[in-house]
Amino acid sequence: MNRATHFNLTARLLHWSMAVLIVTMLFVGIGMVASMSWRPGLVNLHRPLGIAILLLAIVRLINRLRHRPPPLPADLPAVQTLAAKASHWLLYALMFAMPLVGWSMLSAGGYPVTMFKGLALPPIAPHNATAYAVLRGAHTWLALLLFATVLAHLAAALFHAWVRRDGVFAAMARGEPRQVGAPLRPGADAGGTSSGDPGGTTAPARTDGNRH
Ligand code: HEM
Ligand code: HEM
Repeated sequence: MNRATHFNLTARLLHWSMAVLIVTMLFVGIGMVASMSWRPGLVNLHRPLGIAILLLAIVRLINRLRHRPPPLPADLPAVQTLAAKASHWLLYALMFAMPLVGWSMLSAGGYPVTMFKGLALPPIAPHNATAYAVLRGAHTWLALLLFATVLAHLAAALFHAWVRRDGVFAAMARGEPRQVGAPLRPGADAGGTSSGDPGGTTAPARTDGNRH
């Protein structure tokens, strides 16, 4: 079966919008704990933005499981293929873990999980001081892990774009170029149904115009 050479539109839109939101959240989180004057406003932004990320992550995971991603280039060293797949699943795990730990941390501390005036989410963990302390620490350590993984991910993306020039970056950056005279193939960028293989199998290098 033919594999798509690009992530589908939903995946690309979610990837880039969530990248902005998640990086913003990391800095909002740091700002919250670093500045007393900015803290109230940033905390009020942090909670609803974090829950929005959780909702988007659910949509993204469903889309990801329904549509196989484009295969990585076949000439990519096995260790890099493994690192790419492992880091992508780690990023997915953290996109769920960060908001859930934040929400349960506030629940365990007995704090209201206010989204905006008039809407508060129910607690998802029992009120318990020890649980609060553990979850508070976990939120910080997971944030550091997320930061480090995003930096490594960014470095890898730029390595593909500027050094290897193998089309991996283009697969997430834009849609498949339409071939002149080629018949329209509805759903061509959607890929097939996932076999459960996170990064997909490998394929010949993606020659989608990103090689110079
Ligand atoms: C992708 C989602 C999230 C990211 C990336 C994130 C990131 C961060 C970061 C970097 C900090 C500063 C940690 C520190 O220096 O110790 C922080 C603190 C905090 N986060 Fe989150 N967070 C997320 C979701 C949430 C959610 C959904 C909630 C609650 C509903 C939440 C509640 C809090 C609270 C209350 C603090 C500060 C607590 C304090 O200063 O005592 N976070 N977050
Ligand atoms: C900061 C700039 C970023 C750039 C330049 C970038 C670039 C890319 C590229 C080129 C891919 C495609 C890799 C492939 O084909 O295998 C990708 C995939 C991915 N990115 Fe990013 N990314 C960025 C930020 C982020 C952030 C902040 C997150 C989430 C925390 C993230 C999560 C992912 C995930 C989970 C995948 C795998 C896609 C999937 O299988 O659904 N990225 N990224």
